[in-house]
Amino acid sequence: MSSIGRLTDYAEARLARLDATGRRRTLKPTARHAGARTLRAGREFISFCDNDYLSLSCDPRVIAAATRAAREWGCGAGASRLVTGDCPLNEELEAMLAGMKGLPAARVFGSGYLANVGTIPALVGRGDTIVMDELSHACMHAGAQLSGAEIRVFRHNDTGHAAELMEGAPGQILMLTETVFSMDGDLAPLAELGALCEAHEAWLMTDDAHGLGVVAHDNPAQIQMGTLSKAAGAYGGYVCGPAPVIDLLVSRARSLVYTTGLPPPVLASALKALEIMQAEPERGAQAREHAARFCALMELPPPPGVIVPMILGAEARAMAVSAELEAAGYLVTAIRPPTVPEGTSRLRITFATGHSEEDVEGLADALKKALAA
Ligand SMILES: Cc1ncc(COP(=O)(O)O)c(C=O)c1O
Repeated sequence: MSSIGRLTDYAEARLARLDATGRRRTLKPTARHAGARTLRAGREFISFCDNDYLSLSCDPRVIAAATRAAREWGCGAGASRLVTGDCPLNEELEAMLAGMKGLPAARVFGSGYLANVGTIPALVGRGDTIVMDELSHACMHAGAQLSGAEIRVFRHNDTGHAAELMEGAPGQILMLTETVFSMDGDLAPLAELGALCEAHEAWLMTDDAHGLGVVAHDNPAQIQMGTLSKAAGAYGGYVCGPAPVIDLLVSRARSLVYTTGLPPPVLASALKALEIMQAEPERGAQAREHAARFCALMELPPPPGVIVPMILGAEARAMAVSAELEAAGYLVTAIRPPTVPEGTSRLRITFATGHSEEDVEGLADALKKALAA
């Protein structure tokens, strides 16, 4: 058989295995508009599964900033930041992010994923130890693997277990956790983890992908990364920390060195969105109120932020409830393993500034019916 034949057979066999376990993933072209209105296959839905928490991705001021930047600097960076791709907007964005986080310096990356896979191996390597929360995002796990350090994983938010794992850990310890957990919406015990790190002379690095602009917290972490693709409504990632660490990333973070800089319109939209985020704190408050209203209607405990997980257990159950909601005009994608642990398939319901109270009440009604079906 030819090489192309063997390659095709290989992919088809893998796809068949995924089909057999119901784990084959598919893409669905989706057009998003203001107010969480979302067009899919010619039908309009109200989306409750975006991460555009402050509804800034479709804000006319953000769109205008991106348009201006495209006219002035073009649509692409043209090269890596180390060659000619370091559009001046990067520096502006970095100064703004460092200011918002109250840390000395910041570095912008192509995405949050790239920030984690580049930064973690730049800080620790063979002979060192990474101690991380089991529910840390896939890109923190990927960065940890790439580093070559020994990886010790603690039970979710279990500081006692984290302390045990730090005992006798070789080399420099880097602790990794999220601030607001992406699939559960709960918060990390940052003060306790910070104290633990101090006691062990460990460094703490947090992923604030789901916190920025939505959940404020005192964060003792020396290294704080995040993304511009969620509440900032744009794209890109960032890392904030001490100036020499941020400097080091320019030489040591392979996902910064060997990749093209962010397109100027993306940088401009992130900058404008962060400016609005700071000037209009009520946007975050509105999204949190929607989440709280929904939880009250569903008789769930008040949520810490805008992510409400509805854990349904079996994959089939989560898929069925998601399909019922879709039939009623609401998009809430079912989240299944391997994204979440076996037996914890769920609806991950997210709330945004652009939702209305009627949207939230409509979702609660539809969900009650879907759960009873
Ligand atoms: C916790 C967390 N970290 C990092 C990322 C990656 O960010 P980005 O989408 O910018 O690559 C995500 C997004 O999926 C996330 O949820």
